[in-house]
Amino acid sequence: MQQLKQNIYQVGAIDWDRRLFDELIPLPDGTSYNAYLIKGSEKTALLDTVDPTKTEVLIDNLVRLGVNRIDYIIAHHAEQDHSGSIPDILALYPDAKVVTNTKCKNMLIDLLGISSDKFITVEDNQKLSLGDKTLQFVYIPWVHWPETIGTYLQEDKVFFPCDFFGSHLATSSLFADDKCVVYESAKRYYAEIMMPFRAQIRKNLEKISELQIEIIAPSHGPVYGEPEFIIDAYRDWVDGPVKNEVVLAFISMHGSTRKMVEHFAGSLIDRGITVRQFNLSVTDIGKLAISLVDAATIVLGCPTVLTGAHPKVAYACVLANALRPKTKFASIIGSYGWGGKMAEQIKGLIGNLKVEFLEPVIAKGYPKEDDFTALDKLAENILAKHRELQIVN
Ligand code: FEO
Repeated sequence: MQQLKQNIYQVGAIDWDRRLFDELIPLPDGTSYNAYLIKGSEKTALLDTVDPTKTEVLIDNLVRLGVNRIDYIIAHHAEQDHSGSIPDILALYPDAKVVTNTKCKNMLIDLLGISSDKFITVEDNQKLSLGDKTLQFVYIPWVHWPETIGTYLQEDKVFFPCDFFGSHLATSSLFADDKCVVYESAKRYYAEIMMPFRAQIRKNLEKISELQIEIIAPSHGPVYGEPEFIIDAYRDWVDGPVKNEVVLAFISMHGSTRKMVEHFAGSLIDRGITVRQFNLSVTDIGKLAISLVDAATIVLGCPTVLTGAHPKVAYACVLANALRPKTKFASIIGSYGWGGKMAEQIKGLIGNLKVEFLEPVIAKGYPKEDDFTALDKLAENILAKHRELQIVN
């Protein structure tokens, strides 16, 4: 438990050991479930709770702070890593009311079976007085669920945006002191969780620009004492130009595709294009997601399994398709033994990407001189496309 400002405490839990979220997202640096207690002169509010696996930590923090009454539990978001301990907190503080919007209320009833008479619903920009502190609720939908709201604490100029601006980072530092580490974690978080909702995030960035924010206190990772650090990063990730980079994600079973990947990567590097290469049999899928935030081009390297794509390449395609990066161009390189529709299948799997497909290079068996020439031509084509975007130095 740590004090953020006078009468504002972080009472959530650090989860140093968690390595997967949603049984999908790698958490190499763990995470935290931040909950904030705000003691007003008349009322006390708890902003979010913690993942149900850490309920005891939250309760212990409240006990150590001597909190014998909670008037309001502000539920910013219905996902269980923040809402999952609400039933236990309600059991401990039976007079508390859950404050949220109607959409989140209905989700909490569905997900956690909380009785509807426990709720107070609030509208966008509605205020709630704690006495000497005023909470202003700000609807920020689709970061990353439709119901999400944030809270702006007017007197202290602290914005609590829940998942928005968060990072999966277990650290004992309350504030984002080590900016390099936090930037990487926050970008990973954005890539895996927020990127599919870029249009809505753009609107939310615009909306919160009207608030005078001195501190951003998200529900995962450290707090930002310099809000422009994370707001500027989000602006760049959402709307900044793509970069002169190729994400080259591949699988090779017997070396043919690998040989093509190696040659192709060299050919791109020769042309001054940055290569982010990922062997999908060993890569951290989060690293791949981070690279997709900025890259102008994605190229999948894939052998043909039976008649289609290798399942691990198909998995990466499904993921990229769901994350909807701002990538502009795509292509496929790879190999086959006797036939199949590997390239067509991959193309179909990334239909959400608004990309121009560049001519694939598919070798029969081990690549030969013609295939290497075709790979050089593809690299040259990518360079030309990047030049059109004016992103080549
Ligand atoms: Fe951190 Fe969407 O929950």
